[in-house]
Amino acid sequence: MGKYVIAGNWKMNKTPAETTALIEEIKPLVKDATCDVIVGVPFVDLAAALEAVKGSKIGVAAQNCHWEKSGAYTGEISAEMLKAMGVGYVILGHSERRTYFGDTDVTVQKRVRAALDAGLTVILCVGEYLEQREQGITGEVVAMQTKIALGGVSKEELSRIIIAYEPVWAIGTGRTATAEQANEVCALIRKTITGLYSCQTAKKVTIQYGGSMNAANAAELLAQSDVDGGLIGGASLKAPDFATIVAAAK
Ligand code: PGA
Repeated sequence: MGKYVIAGNWKMNKTPAETTALIEEIKPLVKDATCDVIVGVPFVDLAAALEAVKGSKIGVAAQNCHWEKSGAYTGEISAEMLKAMGVGYVILGHSERRTYFGDTDVTVQKRVRAALDAGLTVILCVGEYLEQREQGITGEVVAMQTKIALGGVSKEELSRIIIAYEPVWAIGTGRTATAEQANEVCALIRKTITGLYSCQTAKKVTIQYGGSMNAANAAELLAQSDVDGGLIGGASLKAPDFATIVAAAK
């Protein structure tokens, strides 16, 4: 449906020197990629990553940003700052930010607004907890997260939003959603976007799956009709595995 995008979420891993080394390893392996390739690195590694991706088509993402442009917010980084240093993307609303660092649907919405205003492209993460899936409210949870995060986002701005469906129970657990489960929820997100905008607009949005996607299961997940890519954690730290996933996205 949307353009295929494979993004690595390195989380709190790698020093600047290690970032350079890993990107140098990834670069030749993904040079013939037919999808967009992004690496999401820690703030302190952004400069090294931007330098290392030169001469390739790999994009660089930060893993969060604050909603204010500047001010008394010790320890925070603004979307403007990211844009100024040449970063193109930012991952927002990741479940680890929501679970461990107090991010809510409302703060995610504010971050999305700031990122779009700064000219960044957003990888917006949504996904249910295991208890919610077991209660049968996955659809409601994911639709609500999507609707709130997209509150105030125009149809034009939506072209700078990638949505990553990441069931929380599948992240870092080795327990991947089945291809059917992934596709079902990605389709539901597309339906939600159809309701907010239009069918034509929704078809163009890239909707990724994330959660224990790896070199072995990527092809099946990526072959689903509503899965347009992946947000990859653990497997993105191994260049050959990441490259295998990139190659599967066509
Ligand atoms: P995982 O992480 O691939 O290690 O499960 C995915 C993510 O959190 O984006």
